[in-house]
Amino acid sequence: MAFLLFLFFVTAAALSFFLCTNEQRRRSDAGRQSRQQNEQQKKKLKLPPGSMGWPYVGETLQLYSEDPNVFFASKQKRYGEIFKTNLLGCPCVMLASPEAARFVLVSQARLFKPTYPPSKERMIGPAAIFFHQGDYHLRLRRLVQAALSPASLRALVPDVDAAVASTLAAWADAGVAASTFHAMKKLSFDVGVVTIFGGRLGRRQREELRTNYSVLERGYNCFPNRFPGTLYYKAIQARKRLREIVSEIVAERRATGGDDLLGGLMSSRVDGGETGATAALTDEQIADNVVGVLFAAQDTTASVLTWILKYLHDSPKLLEAVKAEQMAIYVANEGGKRPLTWPQTRSMTLTHQVILESLRMASIISFTFREAVADVEYKGFLIPKGWKVMPLFRNIHHNPEYFQDPHKFDPSRFKVAPRPSTFLPFGSGVHACPGNELAKLEILVLLHRLLTAYGWEIVGASDEVEYSPFPVPRRGLNARLWKLPQEMVATAAGGA
Ligand code: HEM
Repeated sequence: MAFLLFLFFVTAAALSFFLCTNEQRRRSDAGRQSRQQNEQQKKKLKLPPGSMGWPYVGETLQLYSEDPNVFFASKQKRYGEIFKTNLLGCPCVMLASPEAARFVLVSQARLFKPTYPPSKERMIGPAAIFFHQGDYHLRLRRLVQAALSPASLRALVPDVDAAVASTLAAWADAGVAASTFHAMKKLSFDVGVVTIFGGRLGRRQREELRTNYSVLERGYNCFPNRFPGTLYYKAIQARKRLREIVSEIVAERRATGGDDLLGGLMSSRVDGGETGATAALTDEQIADNVVGVLFAAQDTTASVLTWILKYLHDSPKLLEAVKAEQMAIYVANEGGKRPLTWPQTRSMTLTHQVILESLRMASIISFTFREAVADVEYKGFLIPKGWKVMPLFRNIHHNPEYFQDPHKFDPSRFKVAPRPSTFLPFGSGVHACPGNELAKLEILVLLHRLLTAYGWEIVGASDEVEYSPFPVPRRGLNARLWKLPQEMVATAAGGA
């Protein structure tokens, strides 16, 4: 009996060993087969058409020597909606169709991670929202979205209005022509600060933030040379100082709390796991995100504002129509005696169409970057793992298939909503811009005050474009501003 049992166990063990190894073998054979099939499949897939240029530099010199828009547009004409190139030593795939942009940014977003040069990441702060995916990104995104939600923006209207009033008054008081882009940068910085710190920052801290941020900015696009005295070195020092200022503000805030973005970042808690503890964001993470939001908010909004003033200046009839829309609100507010309200900003239909058309025409963010985290197939082409992927927003915005007569400035085209995924000034998907409504609010308030109380003229040529790094009219659109006499405003208001 014992022998029989022994035989049974030995046989069972042998059988199970045999079955196991057989199963393992079967599985590993199947795995090998599927890997081989995948490899064969990939071998069959071709890389997108295009040219990789010279060894190492690729086509970087062409990109920098011509207008980048001409570079991308000529490539698209030659190769179609998907093409490859090599920029700054990185192999890239460029995608110029709405479906391709959707594929990368929305439907297959998990296969493409955000990617920035390490020197830029260091400068903004590695814990900033842009550089992340997954839970940490989601956590930050909720906090940023809450601070920029319609309810929060409604409460922010008086602060935005005050920032606009002070920017315009300073520009007019100077009495000389100055760069519009420069003035708009000051405004968007002030609006960024009020959004993050809720308008309760002391003058000293605000000015220290401004000074150090502008040093950081100057070094941001420089060659990353850490040698003392270089712009990059100074920018690194300014970044350290910014971190200290934010930490000082955080320490003061611990006593008072607050429902602005800083308050949200400070009170955020996540489950710390088995210990049952909850984890807060560190001061470093908070500082990186404060600098990150200032960075995202400033030059973007300022360049769009600059373009809007140029487009309006170049279309006198449209300018009159927009002025009439703003004057009607001014009259309803008893000649500006009552403050502009959130519902009024939502009722500026024509002005809103002008903003959308300016965003399309100027396409200040021409493209964005991602990196493929695996080999990806798109429409029979291989996008290899590690390659950069660039959805080309500007090419989509300027394609006559989606926007008839694309080089004509025509706000009326936005009476009808554009086709899905064809209008992407604020990106799309998980990293789409959470500040888009704030940017629009700021622009609407500025146009309201400017067109109801000021006259302005562009001084000198404004048709060339310069990159700073976003495209803006030459010399940032040199313009002079003056306050209109009260009687003139009253006459204009009478006509509204
Ligand atoms: C007209 C002005 C603006 C334009 C054209 C713009 C455009 C964009 C675009 C295209 C993206 C997505 C980039 C990508 O997918 O790689 C983005 C992201 C972002 N923007 Fe804006 N933006 C503007 C203003 C603002 C403002 C005012 C704020 C905040 C106050 C802001 C905060 C952000 C943040 C935090 C992100 C990163 C979101 C994430 O990674 O989840 N932006 N913006």
